[in-house]
Amino acid sequence: MKKNTVITIGRQKSEGSKIAMLTAYDFSTAKLMDEAGVEILLVGDSLGNTMLGFSDTLPVTMEDMIRASAAVSRGAENALIVTDMPFMSYQTSVYDAVMNAGRLVKEGFAEAVKLEGGVAFAPHIRAITEASIPVMAHIGLTPQSVNVFGGFKVRGKDDASGRQLIDDALAVEEAGAFAVVLECVPAKLASMVTRMLSIPTIGIGAGAGADGQVLVYQDMLGLYGRKPPKFAKVFEDAGALMRKGINGYITETKAGTFPEEEHSFCIDEELLAELRLYAESKGDNRTE
Ligand code: KIV
Repeated sequence: MKKNTVITIGRQKSEGSKIAMLTAYDFSTAKLMDEAGVEILLVGDSLGNTMLGFSDTLPVTMEDMIRASAAVSRGAENALIVTDMPFMSYQTSVYDAVMNAGRLVKEGFAEAVKLEGGVAFAPHIRAITEASIPVMAHIGLTPQSVNVFGGFKVRGKDDASGRQLIDDALAVEEAGAFAVVLECVPAKLASMVTRMLSIPTIGIGAGAGADGQVLVYQDMLGLYGRKPPKFAKVFEDAGALMRKGINGYITETKAGTFPEEEHSFCIDEELLAELRLYAESKGDNRTE
């Protein structure tokens, strides 16, 4: 399998080959996805919800992202590793944006970073790109702005937010982003934006017209323990499979049927007899 880079991802758009991206937050899941052929692993700040149990992504720190990103990078050979810049790691200044993007690369082994925002963050995208760090932009519903939007709502359904989406898309491309996530926007508007841009669009709740798709893996594998969002198809119910396995473990542990001989280590009988004598010499008569 080939190593995916920002160049090969860009080429996929011109070749009309759809891009498959999934979130990953740890070594073993990343390895599984990489071996399956997922082209981009997004170390999303959605780890605040899925791994840390917060109700939004705002509490996620640089340290959370670095730890997860480094683990994912150790699990992935071929996938491109894109790591989210957490809330307040880039909004404060262009300088902070470049410094923190650099930390995600140097300490988290990210190969690109993602940040939320369009026109207002074009200077940040340009500066990070000029520092030789590829940037994936994220527009439409940007979860770090949940308190401004008043909830997790579809963007681009009215004239103002539709125009904003178009302006944002053009601005991030112009600033040098290598790709852009379109989150929760009407499918026909996402298709139009995809046709307008020469960089790939990656949709989540943006219809099938985008150049690629991304999902939070807990949503598409039934692992989050809640009703998945409207846009997330559950491809397999891995949650049900895990529950079955855990129940089996509890049942066998309580029945004493696990572990069996094949899961146990043996000892030489003569040595065991010697050890029994040794224990008894200590005054213990519970050895049989
Ligand atoms: O953090 C994340 O998982 C994301 C995706 C929803 C695109 O940004």
